[in-house]
Amino acid sequence: MTLTIGVDVGGTKVAAGVVTSAGDVLAQTRHDTPADDVAKTRDVIVEAVAEMAAAHPVEAVGIGAAGWIDASRSTVLFAPNIAWRDEPLRDYVSDAVGLPVIVENDANAAAWAEFQFGAARHAEDSMVMFTIGTGVGGAIVLGGELVRGTHGIAAELGHMLSVPDGHLCGCGRHGCLEQYASGNALVRFARAGARQEPGRAGELLDLAGGDAEEITGPMVTAAAQSGDQVSREAFAQIGRWLGIALADMVQILDPQVLVVGGGVVDAGELLLGPTRRSYVDALAQRGRIPVAELKAAEMGNAAGVVGAGDLARRR
Ligand code: BGC
Ligand code: NA
Ligand code: ZN
Repeated sequence: MTLTIGVDVGGTKVAAGVVTSAGDVLAQTRHDTPADDVAKTRDVIVEAVAEMAAAHPVEAVGIGAAGWIDASRSTVLFAPNIAWRDEPLRDYVSDAVGLPVIVENDANAAAWAEFQFGAARHAEDSMVMFTIGTGVGGAIVLGGELVRGTHGIAAELGHMLSVPDGHLCGCGRHGCLEQYASGNALVRFARAGARQEPGRAGELLDLAGGDAEEITGPMVTAAAQSGDQVSREAFAQIGRWLGIALADMVQILDPQVLVVGGGVVDAGELLLGPTRRSYVDALAQRGRIPVAELKAAEMGNAAGVVGAGDLARRR
C-alpha cells in the first residue's frame, strides 16, 4: 500500500499525518506555530514531516497551506493570515526531507478529502465547499477534479465581496466574506453583542471572566450550546452571510453537493440551521427547481491532512 504524508498548515497549527490510500491516518503529530514567523513555520513543517517519515515508508508529501498557491503547486504567493509572501515551500521542504512535495491550498485539500472519503463521497461529479476557521476557505470540484484556475488561485471563496466598504480583510480589501463568516467574525459578533446587551450574554460572559474582550471562539460555541442568546445570534449572523454565499455558488455552478467544514462546524446545527435557512431564502429559484443539498463535513480536523496526503499520492 502506498503511504504518503499530509500536512495541514493553518494560522496557528501545523498538523502532519501518515495517510493510506483508503484515507486513513496511521500516525499524526501537531505543533503550534506563530503565524508571523515564516522561518519557524518552515522548520516546524520540516520537523513534523521528518518525524512521520522516520517511522513509515512514505513516497511523497502534500502540504495544505492557507493561502494563494501558484499553478505549479510549489510557492505560496500570498496568505492573509500567515506572513508568507512568495514562499517557496515545496522546494524548501523537499530539499530538507528528500521526498517529492506538492503544495495545495488548505481548503482545496480539505475538500478533496470530503470528496473522496467524507460528506461528498457519493457525488461523482461536483461539489463546492466552504471551510470556516480562522479564515474562510473555499474549494470547487467539477468533473471530479479540483478547479485550480489559470494561475492556481481559483476558489478563494472567502474573499468574495459580501459588504461593500465593510470590515478590513487580511487580504487588504474591505468587506470580504471572511470578515463576516469566519471564526474571527463569530468572535467579533459575540464580543459586540456581549458589550451591547450583557444581560443576554450571561453564560458567555461567565466563561470570559466578565470581560467581553476575553471571549474566544470555543467559548462562543460552549455558551451557545447552553442556550446563551448572544452566542446563538453570533452563529446566526455568520450563518446568514455564509448562506448567501452558498446560494451565489449554486447560481454559478449548480453543483451536486455543498459542504461546510472547518473548526466552527463543531457547533453543528447552531451554525448549519441558520446557514441552511439563509441559503434557501437567498436562492432565486427557491422551491421551484431542485438544488444541491447542504451537508456538514465529515472528516473533522483530519480533512486537511488526509486530502493533502491523497493529492500527493496522485501527484
Ligand atoms: C485564505 C485561503 C484559505 C482560507 C482558510 C483564507 O484567508 O485566503 O487561502 O484557504 O483562509 O484557511
Ligand atoms: Na481554495
Ligand atoms: Zn479578503
